Amino acid sequence: MIDVMKMFTARMWMKRNVPFLYSWHAYVGYELDLFKAFERGVTVADVADAYQIDEVLLNQWTNVGVSIGHLKPMSRERYKTGAMWKLPRPKDQSSSGVILKEMMELHIPSLLAYPDMMRNKTRNHFDSDKHADTVAQTSRLLEVIALPKIAKLLKGNDKQLVLDIGCGEGGYIKRLAERFPESQFEGIEVSESVAKTAEKLTDSLENVSIEHSDLWDYEPQQAYDLILMNNIIHYIPPEKRQELFEKLGQWLSDDGILSVVTPISGGQDSPPFVAAFNSFFHSFENLHPLPQKEQLEQWGEGANLEFLGIQTVIREGSWYVVQYKKSSSMN
Ligand SMILES: C[S@@+](CC[C@H](N)C(=O)[O-])C[C@H]1O[C@@H](n2cnc3c(N)ncnc32)[C@H](O)[C@@H]1O
Repeated sequence: MIDVMKMFTARMWMKRNVPFLYSWHAYVGYELDLFKAFERGVTVADVADAYQIDEVLLNQWTNVGVSIGHLKPMSRERYKTGAMWKLPRPKDQSSSGVILKEMMELHIPSLLAYPDMMRNKTRNHFDSDKHADTVAQTSRLLEVIALPKIAKLLKGNDKQLVLDIGCGEGGYIKRLAERFPESQFEGIEVSESVAKTAEKLTDSLENVSIEHSDLWDYEPQQAYDLILMNNIIHYIPPEKRQELFEKLGQWLSDDGILSVVTPISGGQDSPPFVAAFNSFFHSFENLHPLPQKEQLEQWGEGANLEFLGIQTVIREGSWYVVQYKKSSSMN
């Protein structure tokens, strides 16, 4: 009886692992641009030859692709890429593949290091030189959903001064600057390579400037009407977060608004994605836990900012926009 149970649970774990194949297969395809290679129906040998890659392993990847429907077998040992809309597009076409890259190269290895970290009481180190570009790109996937909630803050006001802290590739300010040409936009970004990309992407916009700087060293020349801080709270140690909110409060003009995009952790009843995300952050000595809703309220209060409310960006990911106002009456 015990052996039957063992067999049953082993089968259950094997089945539970199948979804991993989909992500793994899509990741390898994205990384080596293989979905493009098989777009027209070609043999494994042709692709291995054209791309100068290992044919035996490519053959395995192709077999898995056929079994999960990412590839379709054709006559004369040819294979063709399946439904393209489900698969990541090539790298240079603002592909959703960056999320696979981040998960496979950063999240999964960090989570697999848990046993060693727990035994040795150690942590990983987040290598910004290696991962900052990927992370900045994945954050941009949220832009389209979060942007309308931010753009609303600028509507009806012609000339405003906007600061984006940890602006990444400058995606938010680029879109806003195009829409609000009378307003001025500044972005601060600590990673040199990410700041360079931001500069390049906003090059044609006269109302955008990007500063390669750590936010803690930044000295603003004027007060801002709107400060954005999107997806960077987990870079700030918990003991510095109140201080950061106070600093931002001082950088705002009267009636200025602070708008923060962040996943919010809410204890044991949060969706599994947030728990996984938080476990990932905890595995690094230089990244920090996600904030809780009550903390976001407290930090605003401590900085004398009026809490305007929370709006959902992506429910399953527990991603929210939290906004505050510096009311002249409160200061
Ligand atoms: C997850 S990305 C988010 C990018 C962008 N805000 C978005 O939401 O798409 C966080 C960015 O903040 C930058 N960053 C982290 N700590 C910073 C600091 N102390 N000063 C300035 N930028 C910082 C990182 O280099 C990274 O590019």
